[in-house]
Amino acid sequence: MTALTAEVGNTHLHIVVADITTLDVDAIVNAANSALRGGGGVDGAIHRAAGPELLEECRTLGGCDTGSAKITRGYRLKARHVIHAVGPVWHGGTQNEEALLASCYRTALDLAAAHRLTSIAFPAISTGVYRFPPDLAARIAVGTVASEVAAQPRGMAAVTFCCFSEESAEHHKEAFAELGLV
Ligand code: APR
Repeated sequence: MTALTAEVGNTHLHIVVADITTLDVDAIVNAANSALRGGGGVDGAIHRAAGPELLEECRTLGGCDTGSAKITRGYRLKARHVIHAVGPVWHGGTQNEEALLASCYRTALDLAAAHRLTSIAFPAISTGVYRFPPDLAARIAVGTVASEVAAQPRGMAAVTFCCFSEESAEHHKEAFAELGLV
């Protein structure tokens, strides 16, 4: 169920409340850790739904830096690919967390474009176990994606902000409004 849609250039930006493992898109983004060995939260849900082959492929990647991302196949998911992004742990905003979170979104969009993918869905990276304030995270997520697709369209037809609660969706809707997207 789409909660809200906006357009930036040729790209549709959607906010939905859903389990990201159910989405039929070219790539879903995982909120991973730097070891890329699976975990709880959305990471656990994605690995459970994709099956053990996903962990096998992740083991070959040599981990991933915070603020960066790596791509794998989607295996048993409807999504053809998983982009594993490593968000920052929130330390009160003193350790470059905002820039690192923005970098996750940019890197994921770049990887998707490099693989000629046209639809991507993001969870609210870092807002669970990593404790990033969800309103600020939503502003960074929406602001980064909107400015990136405006500056460099990358052929992306649809970007979905996949929220796991109505509260999270509200934060993203407020960010759309603040940016004048709706
Ligand atoms: N679909 C969409 N969103 C989900 C799902 C799901 N199935 N499950 C959880 N979420 C949401 C959470 O509600 C939260 O808003 O994803 C957001 C990110 O939460 P976490 O999964 O805890 O991710 P993060 O805060 O980035 O912490 C990453 O957690 O599981 C470990 O291996 C992972 O160490 C890494 C850390």
